[in-house]
Amino acid sequence: MKRTLFSAFTIFCFISVFEVFSQAPGVSFQYAYPYKDGIPIQNYRNRRAAVLASLDEHSAVVSFAADVRNRQNDVDYEYRQSSNFWYLTGMPDPKSALLLIPGGMEIDGRQIHEILFVQPRRIESEIWTGVKMGPEEAQRILGIELCLEYNRLNEILEKVLKGRDTLWLTGLPTATVTPPFAPKPIFIETELKNKLHEIYPELYIKTSLPKLAALREIKDADELRLMRKAIAISIEGHLGAMRAAKPGMFEYEIEAEMEYGFKRGGAEDVGYPSIVGTNYNACILHYISNRKQTQAGDLILADCGAEYQNYTADITRTFPISGKYSKEQRKIYDIVLEAQNAGIAACRAGNNFGEPHKKAHAIIEKRLLELGIIKKSEQTGWYFMHGTSHYLGLDVHDAGTRGTLKAGSVITVEPGIYIPSGSPCDKKWWNIGVRIEDDILITYGEPENLSSKLPRTADEIERIMAKKTAD
Ligand code: GLY
Ligand code: MN
Ligand code: MN
Repeated sequence: MKRTLFSAFTIFCFISVFEVFSQAPGVSFQYAYPYKDGIPIQNYRNRRAAVLASLDEHSAVVSFAADVRNRQNDVDYEYRQSSNFWYLTGMPDPKSALLLIPGGMEIDGRQIHEILFVQPRRIESEIWTGVKMGPEEAQRILGIELCLEYNRLNEILEKVLKGRDTLWLTGLPTATVTPPFAPKPIFIETELKNKLHEIYPELYIKTSLPKLAALREIKDADELRLMRKAIAISIEGHLGAMRAAKPGMFEYEIEAEMEYGFKRGGAEDVGYPSIVGTNYNACILHYISNRKQTQAGDLILADCGAEYQNYTADITRTFPISGKYSKEQRKIYDIVLEAQNAGIAACRAGNNFGEPHKKAHAIIEKRLLELGIIKKSEQTGWYFMHGTSHYLGLDVHDAGTRGTLKAGSVITVEPGIYIPSGSPCDKKWWNIGVRIEDDILITYGEPENLSSKLPRTADEIERIMAKKTAD
């Protein structure tokens, strides 16, 4: 045990020392902002201005960057910025925070309302880590009033919070940690509140900012441009997967075809782990292991979306691996499609957020009763157990108010029927799982199906499977 610890320590020291002295003198890297065709800087400014204008001058807001997540040992997961922080700053780097001060604060003779705290550049380790933005570049590129090094956050925050009554946080990077031998998890939010209350007993601390959710719900033209791109890339991925699919392939091979299309189209990532489930796996809502081999006659449920500049698509198609739906599969498919059409028709500004679900649910309930798959309306939930819609944007389950539907918001419409084996109905229905999911823009008029270029009807999908080319 001792020896292992010693060797681990030696290796760690070796790597660290190696890192510090591994860069040839004179080497310097240029910082390049990776999102040239992204959201214009003015939009981020407008968002911060909207938050500032919505708050009392006795309050302050802190928005934190996402934490780097450790995968194992000295390897981290690929970094994904916090959506709220990104929405307000356009800053891609970790270990950063934004402070908004509605009442302003004087710093060096200037009234400052927004400060971005970022990591300084560490020239000596850039050959390992790449270039981080650093405060000077951040100020130039992101157009924030003042950019400072992250280690000044506490000092400035202490000054700001004096005489203020409310601190709004736009979420916390990590919710809990459970150290070894700890009797229970440590809730970061509670720790933070306790700590701050020691210094500011009267301070009111809120860990979410409703105004931000309301802003994020309505997409501006640039956000829609990026979402359309994420969706267009995703459509190519879905078509590629359908064209490549044949009996005997493993679910992960279909996933690979899908994600090949995503990466090839310029997506940085998937917006959520790809769900590719065949046979009974199609009945597991969050199935992501994707290891089963397909067999002739199986249905494939593929719920996959590409992420482009942090905006994601969310699309599901369910197709027959052998190219033709069986009689029972098609029956269920057509019901889900009918439910989806009814849901999409209800996507109108002014309708309640729950209206598309109501409409889709009513169809599924009626048809399952007609087929004798259920005997009573209350049993609908046995086979359709999730909601029909969620907001879509930076997050697959995006921020929003869930009040009435508003023009400029994007929601999914994704009814499904899942009949795992053992279900109390005729066996001929067993292991049929169907979901159809599209991304719908709410407008002042007709809803716009942003993913409509990906065929949805059973006939269209069979045609693609038969020809192995797009129509
Ligand atoms: N892909 C996750 C969902 O449809 O909500
Ligand atoms: Mn969805
Ligand atoms: Mn989905």
